[in-house]
Amino acid sequence: MRVLFVCLGNICRSPSAQGVFEKLLASSELGSDVAVDSAGTADYHVGKPPDRRAIAAASRRGVDISTLSARAVADSDFAEFDLILAADHSNLQELLRRAPADCAAKIRLFMSYAPNDGEEIPDPYYGGDQGFEGVLDMLERASQGLLASLGEYSSATTAS
Ligand code: 4NP
Repeated sequence: MRVLFVCLGNICRSPSAQGVFEKLLASSELGSDVAVDSAGTADYHVGKPPDRRAIAAASRRGVDISTLSARAVADSDFAEFDLILAADHSNLQELLRRAPADCAAKIRLFMSYAPNDGEEIPDPYYGGDQGFEGVLDMLERASQGLLASLGEYSSATTAS
């Protein structure tokens, strides 16, 4: 199973999602069965590390995203990933617009795994540090839901 997190710049929300979800995976039975990556629908920040505020906020929760490097969504991602998870409606629309007609990947909002939260992860880029904390709170809840969903998928495929 391969999961790709997508936001606009790939320097705030999606690298944070990657780090939070990878940490959760590492402590779960699914650990090595799931590969995780992140990308942006825009290419403004390609090659750059995550925003320093995102690195600091993640680090306070024991998540190291400092070595990640921003990349743009590639056409090949639609074939290589099973699940592509967008941070908000605008990025979801852009992914759906770019996806080939025979796209096998499921494309959806990441927050659909935390149905009691808002649908969109707010863009923290132009705000203060508090925005990054709120993003991480949302990412932790959605990651729990995603892990549970992948666990159910994995036991269903092993059983059949
Ligand atoms: P992200 O945040 O999509 O969560 O990485 C943003 C990063 C950069 C910009 C916008 C959002 N920007 O306009 O440069």
